[in-house]
Amino acid sequence: MPPHDFTPSDLSPGPLHDPRVRAVIERLHANRRRPDSGGPRRSGGRFDPAVFADYGFSILPEQGDLIYLLCRGLRARRVVDFATSVGMSTLYFAAAMRDNGGGLVIGSELVPAKIEVAKHNLDEAGLGDYADIRPGDARQSLRDLGGDVDFALIDGWPGAEGPSLAREVIEIVAPQLRVGGYVLNDNAEPDFLDFIRDPKNGFLSLTLPIKGGTELSLKVR
Ligand SMILES: C[S@@+](CC[C@H](N)C(=O)[O-])C[C@H]1O[C@@H](n2cnc3c(N)ncnc32)[C@H](O)[C@@H]1O
Repeated sequence: MPPHDFTPSDLSPGPLHDPRVRAVIERLHANRRRPDSGGPRRSGGRFDPAVFADYGFSILPEQGDLIYLLCRGLRARRVVDFATSVGMSTLYFAAAMRDNGGGLVIGSELVPAKIEVAKHNLDEAGLGDYADIRPGDARQSLRDLGGDVDFALIDGWPGAEGPSLAREVIEIVAPQLRVGGYVLNDNAEPDFLDFIRDPKNGFLSLTLPIKGGTELSLKVR
């Protein structure tokens, strides 16, 4: 089965059971699609993200379930979701915050129309109170997370040249992540992997066989 062809019945029971949250996640998965052009990666990062305002490019259910499970195990209360898009990853994070007894997902999204869709999705799931989606460029909006975070998703966007956004954002977020916290990366940007696998940056890292390589990293110092 192609990796993006999901129907609601393809979703395993997983660790997230709330039917109201699952209904929104299932709807987003059922409506998952990609542009004929192949998306921003195929374009070589030349397109403004607003060109893709109608596309989620969202994480897969296995990645979302992992986020939910790890956040529950950490008793996470403050997490970072880069980037938000239409809020798929935010839904898993926000459900974990609520089920941990309270907390906040700090999101970041450049395209205003996507922020509106993400907020709508969170409200529909009953999770609107658990997310602060910061508009604008994550390289500015995530500079001050207001305290240590327990978990960071680095689900970036290809650029045309220079360091990847994933690399730039992890360098901003890593000092704000607590020891014992996790980072999950979706797109295996080579310069992100160079950073997270370099022992001097304080992480232990593992490549999971999800979506062709999902990097899970633990901050140890
Ligand atoms: C792969 S999608 C995120 C998918 C999301 N995690 C989910 O599961 O639904 C990447 C998003 O990054 C946004 N983006 C691109 N450049 C950005 C920047 N500099 N700051 C914040 N968001 C950005 C894009 O608009 C896009 O929605």
